[in-house]
Amino acid sequence: MLAAPALDRSHVGVPTPLHPALEVRNLTRVWGSGDAAQVAVDGVDLAVWPGETLAIVGPSGSGKSTLGALLAGIDRPTAGSVVAGAQRIDRLSDDQLARWRARNVGIVFQDFHLLPTLTASENVQLALKLSGQRRGRRGAAAEVLASVGLAEKTDRLPSQLSGGEQQRVGIARALAVRPKLLVADEPTGSLDTKSGEAAFGLLLGVAHGAGSAVVFITHDLDLAASADRVVHMVDGRIASIEVTA
Ligand SMILES: Nc1ncnc2c1ncn2[C@@H]1O[C@H](COP(=O)(O)OP(=O)(O)OP(=O)(O)O)[C@@H](O)[C@H]1O
Ligand SMILES: [Mg+2]
Repeated sequence: MLAAPALDRSHVGVPTPLHPALEVRNLTRVWGSGDAAQVAVDGVDLAVWPGETLAIVGPSGSGKSTLGALLAGIDRPTAGSVVAGAQRIDRLSDDQLARWRARNVGIVFQDFHLLPTLTASENVQLALKLSGQRRGRRGAAAEVLASVGLAEKTDRLPSQLSGGEQQRVGIARALAVRPKLLVADEPTGSLDTKSGEAAFGLLLGVAHGAGSAVVFITHDLDLAASADRVVHMVDGRIASIEVTA
């Protein structure tokens, strides 16, 4: 097993360019309680670095989605810490957490989660609005939609787009805010191989352009091999971390 880059805390208080985009320690998430309690994520230590691409793989039920939701700030840990910059994310109020998420995290879901009554452009503009961007949202939405090949389709509703196109809107929405961290849970899972690969290639291209760290969960080992590191989950724990060539 190859360890994640060692974290040197000696620099605390001294400016340094090398902070993780996000770091979790002893991260634990228990579903249910008493006899029914189930530890979905069990004491995970992980740092995600700016600009890196990290794949999470493992059997069904091994805690990948639960970990992804904790990293994205959609869910809260039962124990352990989540640190972004100097901020303890796990200690924020619900409102503060939502604000942090809107400004810092892009999330891509397997089933897209687009708002059905909003056009492609409006879906992206809403994310920009929630992130606090006051001006130029329409233009920014047009630009990021063009970067995923949807310049001609910005005014379509999700129902007027193919699955692959909807996923590209989801990618544009997640990346429009230039998030520090992008979390994608089986981003190609609903698409055929070709559309999935195309969507994923766009995702990585736009994310790298924005300097975002990318964490993606997948069952596709070929896709995982394109990441800088591959985290293998078993029973809620990190069994190994592989650094790809
Ligand atoms: N909302 C929930 N309530 C109770 N238990 C849950 C909940 N979500 C997940 N679990 C349990 O936590 C464990 C981890 O689930 P998780 O969804 O993280 O797995 P996964 O690795 O993403 O699996 P898959 O590959 O099937 O998506 C499973 O045993 C699951 O049953
Ligand atoms: Mg899952």
